[in-house]
Amino acid sequence: MTIIRRPRRNRASGVIRDLVQETRLSVHDFILPLFVMEGQNVRTEVASMPGIYRHSLDLLLDEIAECVDLGIRAFDLFPNLPETKKDRYATESTNPNGLYLKAIRAVKDRFPDVCVMTDVAMDPYSSDGHDGLVENAGSSAGQILNDPTLEILGRMAVAQAQAGADIMGPSDMMDGRVGYIRTALDEAGYTNVGIMSYAAKYASAFYGPFRDALDSAPKFGDKKTYQMNPANSREALIEAELDIQEGADMLMVKPALAYLDIIKLLRDNTNVPITAYNVSGEYAMIKAAARNGWLDGDRAMMESLLSIKRAGADVILTYFAKEAAALVGSVQ
Ligand code: PBG
Repeated sequence: MTIIRRPRRNRASGVIRDLVQETRLSVHDFILPLFVMEGQNVRTEVASMPGIYRHSLDLLLDEIAECVDLGIRAFDLFPNLPETKKDRYATESTNPNGLYLKAIRAVKDRFPDVCVMTDVAMDPYSSDGHDGLVENAGSSAGQILNDPTLEILGRMAVAQAQAGADIMGPSDMMDGRVGYIRTALDEAGYTNVGIMSYAAKYASAFYGPFRDALDSAPKFGDKKTYQMNPANSREALIEAELDIQEGADMLMVKPALAYLDIIKLLRDNTNVPITAYNVSGEYAMIKAAARNGWLDGDRAMMESLLSIKRAGADVILTYFAKEAAALVGSVQ
C-alpha cells in the first residue's frame, strides 16, 4: 500500500512545531533607529509613526537605557534639525558641537557597550533635502553631483568616527562612496570602524513617514537618479559587488518587505552579513491597520520580521525592535 506523506504530523502540537521551526527571531537581530532633536526634556511623536518619537538628547539616553534593559544593544541615530541649521553643503554635519555629533558622544559615554550606527548622507542637513550636493536646484537642469558629494561624506564619516560611532551607514547611494569613506576613515586612523553600506536602496514610497520624522523630504524632484529602480534586481548584484570590493563589512537591502527577493539574492550571492531595513512606511502600515482593528498588530509585526529573517537577513533595522524584543525575550 502506498504511504501517504503527512506533513501535518510535524505541526501536531506546539512543542513539535517549536522543535521543527526553521527560523527564529532574537533580540540580537535588531537595530533600533532613533531620532534625536534639539532641546531639553522634550519629545514629539512622529504623526505617521505612532509610538515613535523624536527625543531631545537627555530623553534619548533614557530611551536607550530602557531598550538596553529589553536586550537591544544596537542603535542607528538620525538627527532632526531645524531648517535654519540646514544649508546646501550640509555644513552642520561636521560641527563638533552640533546636535548629531554631540548625541553620538553622549550615547557612547553613557553606554560604552552599545553599538552606535550612524547615517552618512546629506539629507538631514541639506537645505535641498537631497542626499547629495545639488547644482541648479529647482530648475529643470537640477543635478545631484556625485564626486563633490563624496568629499562631504568622507568628512562627515570621519567626524562621526571621531565622536565614537562604531558602524557607518552610508545611505546616500552615490557611486564610489564606500571606497571613499573607507579610505578617509583609514587615513584618519579609524581602521576599526565598520561600514554597513546601503547597497540596494530603492527609490521607494515607503520612506514617507521617515521624511516626516526628519522634515527631510526633497525640496524638488525625487531621488531616482541615485536610488534604485524598484523594477530591478540584477542591478542589486552590481551594487553589492562594488560595495564589497570597496570595503563594505555588511550590506543592506532597503526597504525590506517588498524586496524579500533582493534580500535572498544578496544572501545567496555574497558571504557578508546582510541587513534589511524594515522602513518607516512598513511600520506605519501595520500600525494604521492595527489601530483600526483591521489586523492583529503584534502578529503582523512578528510575521513580517520573521519573513525578513527567513528571506536571509542576518540583521534587521526596525522601528518595531522594542515591541518585538518584549515578545521574543532577551535571552536566547
Ligand atoms: C536618507 C534616508 C532615508 C531613510 C534612511 N536614510 C530616506 C530617503 O532616502 O529619503 C529611510 C528610512 C525609513 O523610511 O525608515 N538618507
